[in-house]
Amino acid sequence: MSARPVGLSRDLPAARVMRAMVDEQDVVVWRSAGGTLAAWDNRCPHRGMALSHGFVRGENLACLYHGWHFGCEGGGCSMIPSHPELTPPETIRTRAFSAREQGGVIWVALSGEVEAPVDDLDGFAPLRSLHVEAAETTLLDAASDHAFPDARLRLLCNPIAPDLTQLVVLIDAAADTARQKAAARWCEQLRRSAEA
Ligand code: FES
Repeated sequence: MSARPVGLSRDLPAARVMRAMVDEQDVVVWRSAGGTLAAWDNRCPHRGMALSHGFVRGENLACLYHGWHFGCEGGGCSMIPSHPELTPPETIRTRAFSAREQGGVIWVALSGEVEAPVDDLDGFAPLRSLHVEAAETTLLDAASDHAFPDARLRLLCNPIAPDLTQLVVLIDAAADTARQKAAARWCEQLRRSAEA
């Protein structure tokens, strides 16, 4: 399966957690306090709580329910608060996926490694990530009907459902602030047009 763009790097600062969908898989994407990026099945190995409700503790993600900690390097359980003296068995671990950042975009692949380069993003800078209630083809048709005239854009799609697409937009890195603002407004117009 190919890598999917799930958001902008700048929208996931250190010690933050977000939820993403990748090819119908519910994924928790998070960044440790030290800046390490991780993407896992959004399901705690203990009782199935969504890990996206959890919180970052240093280099670990702690589940909201019983507080089990899972390390950013590999997703193994590192601590069980009710048994602090116990070294958790290696078998207790989250299902980890490949995640990397390129062009200011976070990419996740469910199988194999996210290949580099994911796409030719040279010369582009991150602009927006938004969800559009429309199929990917409808969205891209709307974009070609009303192309943004003032700068080059790259549109990266992550199809989430038949009628829901995550759109990650990059803009020519040379575009000035006025063009960036105009392009951000164009994204909203595109959303309305695709959803109409
Ligand atoms: S469900 Fe996550 S620690 Fe219990």
